[in-house]
Amino acid sequence: MGYLRFPSMAALLFCFCVAVALMPEFAEGRTRHYTFNIKYHNVTRLCSTRRIISVNGKLPGPRLVAREGDQVLIKVVNRIKENVTIHWHGIRQLRSGWADGPAYITQCPIQSGQSYIYNFTITGQRGTLLYHAHISWLRATLYGPIIILPRRNESYPFVKPYKQIPIILGEWFKADPEAVISQALQTGAGPNVSDAYTLNGLPGPTYNCSSNDVFKLKVKPGKTYLLRLINAALNDELFISIANHSLTVVDVDASYVKPFNTDILLIAPGQTTNVLLTTKPNFPNATFLILTSPYFTGAGTLDNTTAAGILEYENPLSSTSTPSPIKTLPLLKPSLPPINATKFVNVTQFVQNLASKYRSLASTKFPANVPKQWTGSFSSP
Ligand SMILES: *[C@@H]1O[C@H](CO)[C@@H](O)[C@H](O)[C@H]1NC(C)=O
Ligand SMILES: *[C@@H]1O[C@H](CO)[C@@H](O)[C@H](O)[C@H]1NC(C)=O
Ligand SMILES: *[C@@H]1O[C@H](CO)[C@@H](O)[C@H](O)[C@H]1NC(C)=O
Ligand SMILES: *[C@@H]1O[C@H](CO)[C@@H](O)[C@H](O)[C@H]1NC(C)=O
Ligand SMILES: *[C@@H]1O[C@H](CO)[C@@H](O)[C@H](O)[C@H]1NC(C)=O
Ligand SMILES: *[C@@H]1O[C@H](CO)[C@@H](O)[C@H](O)[C@H]1NC(C)=O
Ligand SMILES: *[C@@H]1O[C@H](CO)[C@@H](O)[C@H](O)[C@H]1NC(C)=O
Ligand SMILES: *[C@@H]1O[C@H](CO)[C@@H](O)[C@H](O)[C@H]1NC(C)=O
Ligand SMILES: *[C@@H]1O[C@H](CO)[C@@H](O)[C@H](O)[C@H]1NC(C)=O
Ligand SMILES: *[C@@H]1O[C@H](CO)[C@@H](O)[C@H](O)[C@H]1NC(C)=O
Ligand SMILES: *[C@@H]1O[C@H](CO)[C@@H](O)[C@H](O)[C@H]1NC(C)=O
Repeated sequence: MGYLRFPSMAALLFCFCVAVALMPEFAEGRTRHYTFNIKYHNVTRLCSTRRIISVNGKLPGPRLVAREGDQVLIKVVNRIKENVTIHWHGIRQLRSGWADGPAYITQCPIQSGQSYIYNFTITGQRGTLLYHAHISWLRATLYGPIIILPRRNESYPFVKPYKQIPIILGEWFKADPEAVISQALQTGAGPNVSDAYTLNGLPGPTYNCSSNDVFKLKVKPGKTYLLRLINAALNDELFISIANHSLTVVDVDASYVKPFNTDILLIAPGQTTNVLLTTKPNFPNATFLILTSPYFTGAGTLDNTTAAGILEYENPLSSTSTPSPIKTLPLLKPSLPPINATKFVNVTQFVQNLASKYRSLASTKFPANVPKQWTGSFSSP
């Protein structure tokens, strides 16, 4: 019978190895594979259609999801005529600088018809970041979210969200952004400004000919949502606020922070913020605008428009045969500071006050590893 026992032991051992390999607790991190096809696709906004450059024909591009500790391999295939690179904005790139993406800084661009595999491991970061093109102005439409979940064996240092929703702020140009930057470089004048801001690629009802291109944040009462806010605009700092709802900031640029509440946020281009949105306990008989508009105190021109999305509660009556009365509900509006805010509030003060609220979580698990003593010297060694 001994000859029978051997194969069954081998089978058992094999099963054990497979089981161990599949048990996430035993794995340091897994490898995630993505293929990003950089292609043209036509998009209509503000009643005009334009060819844009994006990832896999999507605006915003697909979500790149990984856990802290995972290795990510993204094969970027250039199917357009322009040179392209992708920058993984905020990823620390420890010993993988050649995967960072800025064209002519860490790599030559990926030329038409060629591909390149970006290879990096996410170390010591969890939260939200963004990826975008890093050559010329291709980032105007080539951008998307990077979602870094905690390690499989770890939880959030805040209430587990019911759902997670990325909201990416962007800019929309009716003209080809490549023509805009090329004209500016030729004339030396400031580039033409964008025609609209967008939430997840949609300008919303504050613009002409845009009432059907509205981002809707659909929620249920009494739940906590994690909004992953990203500013993917080319250059503009943006305020964002949701009528009658306060936001709890929990993570900034893929680092946990001490939670604080605010009605208005200011997000710089390339910056990301995770916030908790706790919905009202009961259907509120109202819908709520989500507004975003720029903060600007410099000289020069700027797109000073305001984009809008809508926070909509699932109607408890919608399951019955009565038609949804969402359209007849009042639409409440948040108030945002005006662009330079001389009268309304002291924006400098608002911005400084907001900035002073950002504190490292500094818990035992997530300590603030900053040197508290300086033992070096400023003279050369
Ligand atoms: C975009 O629209 C133009 C003009 O209608 C058309 O020639 C082109 O093939 C379209 N491009 C794509 C990628 O669909
Ligand atoms: C694309 O990149 C290659 C290599 O850096 C360069 O020689 C070429 O001029 C670039 N093409 C354009 C259109 O910029
Ligand atoms: C990714 O980088 C790691 C670490 O440098 C290396 O071991 C691995 O072979 C690379 N994988 C690919 C597919 O390039
Ligand atoms: C999760 O796993 C990582 C890596 O193995 C380890 O460093 C960390 O302490 C673990 N966390 C918990 C909460 O067990
Ligand atoms: C920039 O704006 C000016 C003035 O409106 C216009 O004449 C020009 O065509 C625009 N440039 C581009 C590249 O759209
Ligand atoms: C919207 O269209 C109206 C009528 O054509 C025009 O008066 C108004 O200036 C436009 N508004 C914007 C923001 O373009
Ligand atoms: C929204 O906020 C306004 C101003 O604080 C308040 O008067 C109103 O009752 C609120 N409405 C809802 C539905 O929360
Ligand atoms: C919303 O309207 C319904 C029907 O009129 C009412 O029963 C409910 O109490 C209202 N809810 C709130 C939060 O005002
Ligand atoms: C926005 O800028 C335009 C042109 O610079 C100006 O005419 C307009 O008054 C500004 N609108 C607001 C709301 O500040
Ligand atoms: C704010 O904007 C107004 C109107 O454009 C301008 O008159 C004022 O000088 C600006 N204030 C500051 C502090 O930039
Ligand atoms: C705005 O706030 C700053 C910083 O607190 C202060 O120095 C400045 O005097 C304030 N300006 C106005 C017009 O209140």
